[in-house]
Amino acid sequence: MPYQYRVDALFEWIAKVNGPAWGDVLDAGTGAHSLAWLATLPTRSLTALTVEDWRLGELPGIAPAARIVRGEWTDPALLHGESFDQVLVDYVIGAIDGHAPYFQYDYLARLRPHCRGSVYLVGLEPPPRDGSILDQICRVRDACILLAGHRMYREYPSELVRRWMEQAGMQVSDVRVFPNRVGARFINGQLDVARRKLPLFADRALASAMERQIEDLRSAALANGEQTWGADYVVVATAPAPSQGARNT
Ligand SMILES: C[S@@+](CC[C@H](N)C(=O)[O-])C[C@H]1O[C@@H](n2cnc3c(N)ncnc32)[C@H](O)[C@@H]1O
Repeated sequence: MPYQYRVDALFEWIAKVNGPAWGDVLDAGTGAHSLAWLATLPTRSLTALTVEDWRLGELPGIAPAARIVRGEWTDPALLHGESFDQVLVDYVIGAIDGHAPYFQYDYLARLRPHCRGSVYLVGLEPPPRDGSILDQICRVRDACILLAGHRMYREYPSELVRRWMEQAGMQVSDVRVFPNRVGARFINGQLDVARRKLPLFADRALASAMERQIEDLRSAALANGEQTWGADYVVVATAPAPSQGARNT
């Protein structure tokens, strides 16, 4: 059964800001959740881009009418000559470092010629470094990713991303921060990422010690119940067609 859209406060807010008129839409870093939402909208066309092969199996079932593109934003030929009325950038900035290290600083300028209307950028504020159990969980997750020889996500504050968007020629009209309610799904999700990295540690004793640490953190955090911690954000911008911008037909 294909992934069903779970109502998301950020997407519902974007839908209100946008109003009912949706044109050619680009999901600039797609996944089951963003694509399932976009598939519910009356778009003229829907293009969804990812660089990850593992996503390609499930995406067509979620949005059969969408054009799914597998591509890397560092490739200058990607979507060449195409632009979109609405561009959704959903948790892409933080993910880029894992695929194209340091490209996040040039990414919005790369995206700009493909915009001819609105940009909705969704991101995660960097986790609060407050010493809480939730903070420790994020640190342990990142340590495990590094010890496995992989690259981490790297999140950026909304204020910095807003400046990057303006520098890329987008006119920011709103920044909305949504505090997160964090519970078992987040705790188990982050600690399961950490656990999956353990077999890749070179030092087996360190892997066993880390496994104990992961499970101690899990028990302690789950006992605390749901809490407000960290925040997501949406930056809204207009980006009219560049004077020589190309259109998709
Ligand atoms: C965290 S996921 C986004 C979550 C997704 N919107 C969802 O609803 O599940 C990041 C997306 O950005 C894409 N991405 C990250 N870096 C990229 C790059 N350098 N080029 C192309 N796509 C990239 C990933 O392949 C993935 O599709």
